[in-house]
Amino acid sequence: MSVITSDRAPVVPAHPSEQTQRNLLTVEGLTKNFGGFRVLDATTFSLPEGQVTCLVGPNGAGKTTAFDCITGFLKFDAGSIRLRGDELNGLGRGDIVRRGIARSFQNLRLFDEMSVVDNVIVCLADETGNDPLTAVFRPFHSAAILRRKREKAMTILEQVELAHKAEDHVTQISYGQQKLLCIARVLATEAKLLLLDEPTSGLSATALDNMVKVIDKLSASGKTLLVVEHNTRIVRDIADRIVFMHQGRVLAEGDPQDVLDRPDLVEIYFGGGH
Ligand SMILES: Nc1ncnc2c1ncn2[C@@H]1O[C@H](COP(=O)(O)OP(=O)(O)O)[C@@H](O)[C@H]1O
Ligand SMILES: [Mg+2]
Repeated sequence: MSVITSDRAPVVPAHPSEQTQRNLLTVEGLTKNFGGFRVLDATTFSLPEGQVTCLVGPNGAGKTTAFDCITGFLKFDAGSIRLRGDELNGLGRGDIVRRGIARSFQNLRLFDEMSVVDNVIVCLADETGNDPLTAVFRPFHSAAILRRKREKAMTILEQVELAHKAEDHVTQISYGQQKLLCIARVLATEAKLLLLDEPTSGLSATALDNMVKVIDKLSASGKTLLVVEHNTRIVRDIADRIVFMHQGRVLAEGDPQDVLDRPDLVEIYFGGGH
């Protein structure tokens, strides 16, 4: 039998287990222009269900823009985004959250004037009967709903080890705790796919360890995660697989070791301002 060899590294190294793995999300040919500038250039990757995928690449690669397109914050020019085969293009942000995709933001976006627990309550998935008319005509029912929401929010805060700060205002807790609160808010949506944009950036060593533990815990609970992460040590620690982006294109996708050890990608990554 003849073997065909190539001296070029494969652009998309296919991991054997990947071929049978079910993809929760498939992004194909995603293209986004800002004016004359192409920020996403036929970006293509998939997220296997139940795995942690790290999205890496130098600043300006298009990582946040990809998040914005997937979560309905930005309209895109071409391509498709499918959740278990269902096209998401055209759906609003709220619809996308209800379908099961939630995201955190690089710049936190918390309600500073509210307490920690209230920041979670406002993100909780809707409960039927919870509308203004219910509050007027069925006050006891409405009070019960509020009580349940609070209990639910407290359970979520426990998962990220913030329950002891529930009554504090956002401005009273540390930056690391604010980042954990962002995760709590994402969890409140009950989404199965969580997109976390730089959850560890700016954290002290202790806060960073906490965040890594929380990410591990989320993964162990069955969530599928896409995490933008710059620190390659953390990437090696948390990632089941990597999607490597540069100038709006996916240059490699697959096993963390394989991707992070490719000299051409290391050059792009560390030559690109990191
Ligand atoms: N709203 C916008 N208008 C114009 N250009 C933008 C906008 N948002 C992002 N960009 C540009 O798109 C490129 C990719 O940005 P971004 O997705 O934030 O990259 P990353 O998250 O990988 O650092 C950058 O060059 C950035 O300046
Ligand atoms: Mg970004």
